[in-house]
Parts: sequence; C-alpha cells; structure tokens
Amino acid sequence: MAEKLLEVRNLKKYFKVKNGMLHAVDNVNFFINKGETLGVVGESGCGKSTTGRVVLRLLEATDGEILFEGKNIREYNRNQLRELRKEMQIVFQDPYASLNPRMTVSEIIAEPLKIHKLVNSKQELDKKVSKLMETVGLAERLYNSYPHELDGGRRQRIGIARALAVDPKFIVCDEPVSALDVSIQAQILNLMQDLQQEFGLTYMFITHDLSVVKHISDNIAVMYLGQVVEFASARELFKNPVHPYTKALLSAIPVPSLKHKRERILLKGELTSPINPEPGCRFAKRCPHAHDKCKEDQPLKDIGNGHFVACNLAY
Ligand SMILES: Nc1ncnc2c1ncn2[C@@H]1O[C@H](COP(=O)(O)OP(=O)(O)OP(=O)(O)O)[C@@H](O)[C@H]1O
Ligand SMILES: [Mg+2]
Repeated sequence: MAEKLLEVRNLKKYFKVKNGMLHAVDNVNFFINKGETLGVVGESGCGKSTTGRVVLRLLEATDGEILFEGKNIREYNRNQLRELRKEMQIVFQDPYASLNPRMTVSEIIAEPLKIHKLVNSKQELDKKVSKLMETVGLAERLYNSYPHELDGGRRQRIGIARALAVDPKFIVCDEPVSALDVSIQAQILNLMQDLQQEFGLTYMFITHDLSVVKHISDNIAVMYLGQVVEFASARELFKNPVHPYTKALLSAIPVPSLKHKRERILLKGELTSPINPEPGCRFAKRCPHAHDKCKEDQPLKDIGNGHFVACNLAY
C-alpha cells in the first residue's frame, strides 16, 4: 500500500483585490504518495503556482489542512518551519530570474548549504558543491562561471542542484521545463526522473502542458479556476478522461498518427471570473454539455479506479 507524503484537504487561498475576493485556490483536495509524482495541469491563472506556494508555506493558506507526513504543517511555528524548509524545496520555471546574477555557479549551489549550516568547513562545502554539480550533470569547468554564461538547460540544472543541496523529500517543480527548447526539456525531465529514483524524491510537477506530465506522473490533478476538476492516475486520465475540460485539454495535444486523429474540442464562451465567483461549476459557461444541474456546486467524487471527477455527468 502506497504511503501518502502530502495530502491537502479543503485548501483555500483567497486574495483580497479591488473588486472583492479572488478565489485562487478554492477547496482543493489531493494527495501525493511517497516517491511518486503528482502532475498538476490547467491553463494560465487556474491557481497552480498558488497551490504550490501554499503547500510549501511560502504563502499562508486561507483555510484547509496541509498534511506532510501526517502532520498539519499549517500549525507549525517558526522553528518547525525552519526544519521543514529542508524537507520541501521548489524549482522554478525561469531559472535565470531565480538565480543571483552576481554569484558563480558554485556560490549559488553552496548558499543553501550555508544557510542551513549543513557543512562544517570550507573543504566540506567545496566537496559537496562538486558532488551536487556532478549529480545534476554540470561540468566541473563551470564551477566559477556565472549564470548568464550558461544556456537555459544548464541554468535549470543549477536550480535543481540548489534544491537538492538540503537533501529534501519533496520538491514542487513549477513549470521547470516550460521555458526550455523541446530537446532540452527531455534532458531535464530525464534528469529529474533519475534523481527521483536515486533519492526517493516526491514531486508536485506543475505545468500547463498535459503532454509534459503524461510520462512522468503517477497521478494527475486537472485544475480549472482554482478547483481540481479531475484527479486520476496518468494512465487512467489519458485512457478515460471524464470531465469536459480534461477532454478539451487532451484534444489539444497533437497526435502523430493519422489513423488516430482526434477531433480538437474548441472552447467557446466567456471565462468565469475568479473574483467573488457564483456557486456552481466554473467551467459551465464554456462547457458544451452544460445544463441546469451545473448551477449547483460540483464536488470532486470518486467514480472508482482511483478516479475523481467534479462533474454531474460523471456521477
Ligand atoms: N499575490 C496575488 N494577489 C492577487 N491575486 C493573485 C496573487 N497571486 C496570484 N493571484 C491570482 O490568483 C490566480 C491564480 O494564479 P496562479 O499564479 O496561481 O496561476 P497559475 O495556474 O500558476 O498560472 P500560470 O500558468 O500563468 O503560471 C490568478 O487569477 C492570479 O491573478
Ligand atoms: Mg504559475
């Protein structure tokens, strides 16, 4: 039986904005098993990054529970949080923006080791940094290079080495390959999978691109305007998508074979605002199957096979 490393229950994050409350994350539930990857997908603004930041307690949740190894980390005090920072890390989309341009590769990777006092001497620090560079496939000659001298793939390797430095259990990967060329994307994804195997890492992998998470995810959560509308194993989701939004997302992935050509579902209709949203399905205005029942809230329900859907057509 798989063991849950992370579970969120009824998680909410609202932002106060000029016209009211923006429901960025609204009653979200999901779990991630130890050593597995949860892919989190959905279009821009649906709350993926906010969910990741709230889970890491980089942002305070409005409501709900965040259970990490069974403990509600929302209740952690400052000292407990400091310890937690070593267990949970984040890798960002744009490594360039997240790396200090005035620091060398080795200094950037050394920083978390120093902050968390994980080394006792300069010698030990140098050794650890060299080892981390080797682990993520950065050549030793880049030790004293600056981020601007490197390409996007190598910069992302620095971001990964930095996250790995503190020997975490869990990493939120927020669009880590979205800014990279397709050929480099595959290299970074392979590296991340190898590291997961080697160190038993658990990932929350955020992306707007379903095809990116297909092969690396165990489970996938599909988000729409602050809510999880479908949750299933990657295999099940691709074989048997149920929510009309998931179907539309899947239909947008190009398929190489002409024989299996898929009809692309184009979404029409206006976007529901995340500010003071009305009750009911937030996708209804764009949904080709919308009817009266969709005016009620659609809870995420178990339809069997580890598959959860928030749509009355599925119940
Ligand atoms: N600090 C903030 N104050 C107000 N609103 C915010 C804040 N941060 C995010 N939002 C809003 O919350 C919603 C979710 O944003 P978020 O960045 O989590 O989406 P995302 O799914 O990561 O999008 P993208 O794919 O573009 O990265 C958006 O409507 C966004 O405008
Ligand atoms: Mg984002």
